[in-house]
Amino acid sequence: MISKLPNATTSIFAIMSKMAADHNALNLSQGFPNFKSDPLLIDLVAQAMKEGHNQYAPMPGDIGLREEISQKTKKLHSKSYHPDTEITVTAGATQAIFTAIAAIINKGDEVIIFTPAYDCYDPSIELFGGITIPIQLKAPNYTVDWDEVTDKITYKTKLIIINTPHNPSGMIFSNNDMLQLQSIAEKNNLLVLSDEVYEHIIFDGNTHFSAARFPELASRTFITASFGKTFHNTGWKLGYCLAPEPLMNEFKKVHQFNVFSVNNPIQKALAKYLKTPEHYFSLSAFYQQKRDFFLDLIKDSKFKFIPSQGTYFQMLDFSDITSESDITFSERLTKENKIASIPTSVFNARNEDFKQIRVCFAKTEETLEKAAEILNSI
Ligand SMILES: Cc1ncc(COP(=O)(O)O)c(C=O)c1O
Repeated sequence: MISKLPNATTSIFAIMSKMAADHNALNLSQGFPNFKSDPLLIDLVAQAMKEGHNQYAPMPGDIGLREEISQKTKKLHSKSYHPDTEITVTAGATQAIFTAIAAIINKGDEVIIFTPAYDCYDPSIELFGGITIPIQLKAPNYTVDWDEVTDKITYKTKLIIINTPHNPSGMIFSNNDMLQLQSIAEKNNLLVLSDEVYEHIIFDGNTHFSAARFPELASRTFITASFGKTFHNTGWKLGYCLAPEPLMNEFKKVHQFNVFSVNNPIQKALAKYLKTPEHYFSLSAFYQQKRDFFLDLIKDSKFKFIPSQGTYFQMLDFSDITSESDITFSERLTKENKIASIPTSVFNARNEDFKQIRVCFAKTEETLEKAAEILNSI
């Protein structure tokens, strides 16, 4: 059989998490919190199950949840997405990203992505015959050169994928970045996929400049979001997509034959939980405290770092420690020092190695203290 994804291998997250388990290492590799979801939210899910919401949800999602998402987006970004026609609830952001790409990418279409990039973009593009055009962002700041973006656009370019706050670098797009993107997308009649799964994890008083805030940009953009990232339950796999009606119509055509609809009781619970904005407004302060706690503990280590501006990831530069590749170094850290991280070259075009590993600080203080002790000893 001819593989449709000949280059796809086991994801680095699975590899590093397995290596962490095999070697009994502290796992700061995969991006998941090691603390509990809010007991109130768990109770709301249990309640929804007991109330009998055990059959299919409506295809685009529970209407109560879509209404809450619409109001939340309006409150945060002054942009209305109609709950009936412009919002679909998905099985995590991964499905939303896949479905948006499936809905619009045809054979030979070029898609610009910024590397280091989250690992699901490229295979999804490839699966539908698209061609990924990577633009490599450079360590340590990972900022975008918009002239380079303009240079990479051809008559085949169909879509630009952005991710802010950015995994793995922790960089965020500024107002100016979004204006530049808007202008380029408009001038070249491009669609945009804005992956905003870390929208509520942004530090030092910075603003999340959602694509929803920029009218011309929003009119050509799919925004993808994840409740798993926001409410500490990545295993529940619930997210959503926002897009103007013509784009959402195409999205729904794929969605209904892909999953049809997603987990009903969790949607019912989230519809109630979202009524209290504090549940997501408190997130930045919560994670900033963790970032600062962790970085203060490792400030005298041999690792160099620029504090993450958003997400729950921190890049650590190990070039003062060894000239090993990031893959060799992170393997050695896992096996010998008992701490697992992600070598970030795997997310880069041509696996460029900036000697940076990514660690996840969505962990309890006890775990962060143990991690810091190990990192300080290296
Ligand atoms: C940038 C980015 N996009 C999308 C996702 C996937 O989100 P979900 O778990 O909701 O599918 C992740 C998860 O790590 C991510 O980091």
